[in-house]
Amino acid sequence: MLLEVTENHTYYGKSHILQGVSLAVDQGETVTLLGRNGVGKSTILKSIGGLVHPRRGSITFKGQNILGMRPYKICRLGIGYIPEERRIFPKLTVRQNLLVGIKPRYKVDNPWTIDRVYDFFPKLRERDGQRGGNLSGGEQQMLTIGRTLMGNPELILVDEPTEGLAPLLVDMVVHILKSVNQEGVAVLLVEHAMDVALELAKRTYVVSKGRVVFNGTCDELLANEEVKRKYLEV
Ligand SMILES: Nc1ncnc2c1ncn2[C@@H]1O[C@H](COP(=O)(O)OP(=O)(O)OP(=O)(O)O)[C@@H](O)[C@H]1O
Ligand SMILES: [Mg+2]
Repeated sequence: MLLEVTENHTYYGKSHILQGVSLAVDQGETVTLLGRNGVGKSTILKSIGGLVHPRRGSITFKGQNILGMRPYKICRLGIGYIPEERRIFPKLTVRQNLLVGIKPRYKVDNPWTIDRVYDFFPKLRERDGQRGGNLSGGEQQMLTIGRTLMGNPELILVDEPTEGLAPLLVDMVVHILKSVNQEGVAVLLVEHAMDVALELAKRTYVVSKGRVVFNGTCDELLANEEVKRKYLEV
């Protein structure tokens, strides 16, 4: 497995948020995390990305322990984190925003370049010299993903990328994540919309109150009325 999270316990102060979460992502795989509001989905991604440090458990990436590491180190190892709030630099141009994403990493085959990102997102090429803050919501989402790719990740953690986007843009983000995955990048995706999650992933975890309550293929989830009724809004 590329990423292995085992019996993870994460706290915010005294609040015990993740209560023994275990999950895994294989090389080149797309996996989704589903669950209602406030169950700990974002906290799982933050724990992997090193933004919060679990008190117990283990997290390994390519066999190496990453628990307790600083976010920039985790990023250099090949994990890109795309938070819910799109963090582009509004005053920098599109090109400058992409340059910010370059990370020193060892031995990468076929590294991402600005040109390769622009081939991937032709809309961004058209916007090359414009300020990030002037882009539409969908273009900003492309820029965030493009900047993350510039760090040559092997795994990206994506938190609700379709949140607040119009249906057409949701389709675009789905298409982008599919294409990124086809380039060999593994994706761990938090998604509210079950149809989006199921379209992208073969495997899914359902989270409730800081625990994984279902782990299986999307077909198994679709067939499991109890899990859907109890833990998802359907
Ligand atoms: N920085 C923080 N300090 C204290 N409590 C927090 C903090 N961040 C999140 N929480 C709490 O931890 C719990 C899990 O939050 P988290 O953001 O991981 O949930 P989520 O599943 O991503 O929810 P949503 O679907 O709303 O994004 C919630 O009860 C939330 O209020
Ligand atoms: Mg969240």
